[in-house]
Order: sequence, then structure tokens, then C-alpha cells
Amino acid sequence: MNGTDSTVADASSSDDPGFEPLAVEDRYPPPAARPDPDRDKGWFRRLLPLLTAHRLTFGATLACGVAGLTLQVSVPMVLRHAVDVALDQRSGSLEAHVWALVAIAVAAFGLRFAYRYLLFWVAFHIETDLRSIIYEHLTRLSFSFYDRVAAGEVISRANSDIRSIQLLLAFGPLVGLSMLSFVLAVGFMLSIHVPLTLLAVATMPFVFVLGQRMRDLVFPLSWITQGRMAEVAMVVDENLSGTRVVKSFAAEAEQIALLSRAAQRLRWSATALVDARARFNPLIEALPRLGMASILLYGGWLAIEGRIGIGALLAFSSYVIMIAVPFRMLGFMLLQAQRAAASSQRIFEILDEVPAVADRPGARHLLEPTGRVEFRDVRFAYPGADPDAPPVLDGFDLVVDPGETVALVGRTGCGKTTVARLLCRFYDVDAGAVLLDGNDVRDLTLASLRHHANQVTDEPFLFSESIRDNIAFGRPDAPLDDIVQAATAAQAHGFVCELADGYDEVVGERGYTLSGGQRQRIALARSLLANPRILVLDDATSAVDVQVEEDIHGALRDLLADRTTIVIAHRLSTIALVDRVVLLEHGSVAASGTHAELLATEPRYAAILASGDDGHDGNGAS
Ligand SMILES: Nc1ncnc2c1ncn2[C@@H]1O[C@H](COP(=O)(O)OP(=O)(O)OP(=O)(O)O)[C@@H](O)[C@H]1O
Ligand SMILES: [Mg+2]
Repeated sequence: MNGTDSTVADASSSDDPGFEPLAVEDRYPPPAARPDPDRDKGWFRRLLPLLTAHRLTFGATLACGVAGLTLQVSVPMVLRHAVDVALDQRSGSLEAHVWALVAIAVAAFGLRFAYRYLLFWVAFHIETDLRSIIYEHLTRLSFSFYDRVAAGEVISRANSDIRSIQLLLAFGPLVGLSMLSFVLAVGFMLSIHVPLTLLAVATMPFVFVLGQRMRDLVFPLSWITQGRMAEVAMVVDENLSGTRVVKSFAAEAEQIALLSRAAQRLRWSATALVDARARFNPLIEALPRLGMASILLYGGWLAIEGRIGIGALLAFSSYVIMIAVPFRMLGFMLLQAQRAAASSQRIFEILDEVPAVADRPGARHLLEPTGRVEFRDVRFAYPGADPDAPPVLDGFDLVVDPGETVALVGRTGCGKTTVARLLCRFYDVDAGAVLLDGNDVRDLTLASLRHHANQVTDEPFLFSESIRDNIAFGRPDAPLDDIVQAATAAQAHGFVCELADGYDEVVGERGYTLSGGQRQRIALARSLLANPRILVLDDATSAVDVQVEEDIHGALRDLLADRTTIVIAHRLSTIALVDRVVLLEHGSVAASGTHAELLATEPRYAAILASGDDGHDGNGAS
């Protein structure tokens, strides 16, 4: 580290970071636990901490469940006793039995209420925890990750995956509980009559096998259906956000056909799913009834022979119904487990993704930089780019002095935006270094680096909130005066005042209710308010007219005399405003000097300005 101590500070040592990071305090409760980071463990063990974090509540849930089940299982025994008493001594009173049944009903109600309430409490806490863990992780992932995956898909996938994991974690142990009721019931049944019990459970294996068959059919179908639902959602989503493109090409019919194809595919799999369920479910439900019939037959004969009481037979038939439930639940749970395994695999794909760009241990805050920027022999290719292709930047050297304004000029696609991204450390260089005030950006905390170095792009993203909130994005507590000042410098104040609600006007999604030039000026004001020491304007004023642009630069010159500014521009009028022009070609600096010098000495520069390949507005103002 070759920075001086006056410009960096230990990130861990002081409470006051010396700059104003956004959202210093956590505005949400942290998750109760995090998944086990050990990748060698199975998915269930990795997720278990989420459940054990709520072990007290979950323990109470289980206790209520066990107690409720025990009561439930004891009801037929009370019935049996009541019937036997009634039949035996025809005059005997059943009052005690009635009270017992009422007491059991009340207690079972209370227990089942508590158990369901607590169960869902745990389930939704786990869901919330998982959601914030995943979202937190998504916000930490680097640009290279978002270059690779569609953010919308990650979010929609995460939603259904979180749900299926939540279901398993919370309900899985309860299936164990219901198996317990099965064991209890069978115990009671055995105590009544052994051969009759064997007859009763004889149908169970068939129920199980049938259930297994059904799952083999249903599982892939439900998987396909889920995928097709996502497909439909994606078509709708793209159509809504791309509606301007669709309409401008009058491609509505084509898009409707696209959606209807997706919808039909969904209909097919959804119908197939219902069909499979419709064929198996009645069978699975009918089997225990068949068992019941045989029990009535055999049991009835036993009763007539006097080898078993009527009460016992009654209790028995209640149990037969009761034991079918855990079996079906077990089947459902096996299905859910398969699903949760697949889901957790996808969730861990995200959670195990290591952010490519992150604070290194011991990274230091950049304090009060003077704004000297240096690119030292930088080589960079985008991750995943063709390894045989030449890197975007190779041997790129550039020093920008504090307070200097430099224009970066070059053909489209030559790497100008890439330079800006490396400066803010959106990506890390492959070789060489990017230095700020002599500090390698990789040694600085991202928060402090991005506080001091900011960039405005040509396609700025605005949030669907008020103009005031949009400008104050980097400084949510900024007073209105500062906001107006920034907007004035960005030449936005005038048109904002003409809006019906002024600074409180809410812009449409992505700011589409504003013109391109207006959006750019709001974005510029947003960056100016954050008051970065180093400002990169990447085609930031390409959509405003030349006069307004000149006004902007005039205002910037007064306001930010000592700010280091890198201007990426295609327009001659913009380039003419800067101290120095740097020509970027084949990944490195081909020439550097004032506009007049380059024009006189550098034919390539003149060619680029004249060719129109420089793009949008090559001869805009010569
Ligand atoms: N996120 C990315 N992933 C992979 N390759 C990229 C990415 N962004 C840009 N590139 C490639 O890197 C090269 C340089 O792109 P860059 O955006 O820096 O060009 P530019 O000079 O800013 O062009 P323009 O003047 O059109 O804005 C291009 O060939 C581009 O295709
Ligand atoms: Mg660019």
C-alpha cells in the first residue's frame, strides 16, 4: 500500500467512517440464523440452522402436536368404553363419558390451535429469514454475476424455491409426528384384536405403493408445470416492460401468439397433472374403505360369535380411518422432500456464488481524496469472454491529475465505458492496477470508493418515486435546498418546476414519463448531490441539446472547479470543453493532448471525429 495515512483509514478501527455511506444502520432485523457454509454437507444439514434457530417455538409446536395427537388417538378408546358400558349394563349412565369426550374435544381444540399457530409462525419466520439472506446475498454479488444471469429469473425462481424449502423444514418433522400417531393407533388396535389389526393394515402397503406410483407421475409433471408457469410469467413480464418496442413494431399479434403458445403448453402439463391425480387419488382413498369393509365383515362375525365387543369394533373402525392419514401425509412429504432438494440446490447455487468483487480483509476507507486517478498498465477482459479474442484493455496507462477534466475518445466498443467501470471497481483488472490517490482500489472499501468516485451513464435508471427522492438517492437525508442546487447545476431545475407536482412529481417506471434528456439531467443531479471527488460522465449528456449541455458544463466548471472529471463523449461540442483529450484505441492510449493539438498532430483522432463511427452525433457541432 503506497497511500499516505491522511487519505485512508482503517475500516475496522473507528466508528466514524469519515464519509457518509448510504444506509449506515440496518433497517431490517437480521435473520435468526444462516445456512451452514460447508459445501460438503447435505442440503438438509446446511439448512438445519434456520430451523434450530427457532427451536424453542418449534419444540412447543411439537409438544402441542404430540399432546393433541395422543388425545385424538384416545377418543375411540373412550367410545369403546362408553358403548361397552351402555350395552353391558343397559341402565348405566354415560355422563362421565360425555364429559370426557367434551373435555378431550376442548383440549384438542386448544392444542391444535396452538400447534397450527406456532407451526406457521416458525414456517413464515424461516421463509422471511431465507428471503432476506438470499436478497442480501444478491445485493452483494458483482456485476459479472448479473451479466450472466437474468435478474428477473433469479427472483422468480427464488420465490418458489424458498416456499418449497419452507414447507419441508416446517412440515417435515410433523410427518414424523403423524407417524407417531400411526404407531399409537396400531398399538391400541393390537391391544383390541391382533388378527383384525393385521387385516386392517394389510391394505396399507398398497396405499403406499399406489402413492409412490402417483408421485413418480406427478413429480415430473408438477416440475414441468412450474417451469411453464415461469415461462408464461417471463413472456408477460418482457411484454410489459418492452411494451414500447412491441408497439412501435406493431408486433402485438406476434407477441399474443407467443403467449398463447406458452399458455397452451402450460395447459397441457397442468391438465396432465390433474389427470394423474384424478386417477390415483380416488383409488388411494378407496383402499382403506375396502379394508374397512373386510374388517366389518370379519369383525362383525367375531362380534356375533361374541369374541369381540361392539365397542371394540366401533373403536377399531375409527382407527382404521385414522391410520390412513399418516400414510398419505408420508407420501406427500416424500414428494415435498424431492422438491425441496432440487430447490435448495438452486438456492445454494446462488448462496455459494462468491462475489467477484468484495472488500478484502483489512480493506481501508478512502478519506478526503485529492482525486488523482491512475491506470497502471491495466489489462482487462470481461469474465466469460472468448479467451482468444484480444482483451478490451491491454497496457492501458492513464494519469488524471486532481481537478483535471479529461475526455476519453475512441470508436464505439473500444472500451471507454469499461475504463469507467474499472475505476469504480465494478470489475477487477486482470493485470496492472487502478489507483486512487496512490491507493490500489482493491485495498479500499467499496463503500468509500464508490462514495468518492461516481459515474453517470447515458441510460440512467430512475426509480418509480418522486424526483426529489430520485435525486436524493445517494443522500436520502439531503435538505431540499441542496437538492435544488444540484438540480440547478444539472439544468434540471427549470423543467422540474414546470411539472405539476414539481419535485414531488412521481416519475413512471424507470422514469419513462420523462424525456431522455430530462432523465439524464435528473441522473446528473443525483450524482452531483452525492458530491463525489471523481466524476465520470459516460455519454451522460448525449440526449440533451448542445446549448443545454454547454450550460451544464458551465455550471459544473463553477461548482466543481477542483473535481476530477472524466468525460466520455462523442460530440465535438462536449470534447471541446475539456482540458485534455485521450484517444483510446486497441485497448490502450493511442494519443493524448489538447483538442487542438490532437486535431493537428493525430490523423487517427481527426478520422474518428470525422468518420461518424464515433457514433450518435459525430458532426453535431463543428
Ligand atoms: N458486461 C459485459 N460483458 C461482456 N462484454 C462486454 C460487457 N460490456 C461491454 N463488453 C464488451 O467490451 C467491449 C468494450 O465495451 P465498452 O462498453 O467499454 O465500449 P465503449 O467504448 O464504451 O463503447 P460505446 O462508445 O459504444 O459506449 C465491447 O466489445 C463490448 O462488447
Ligand atoms: Mg460506452
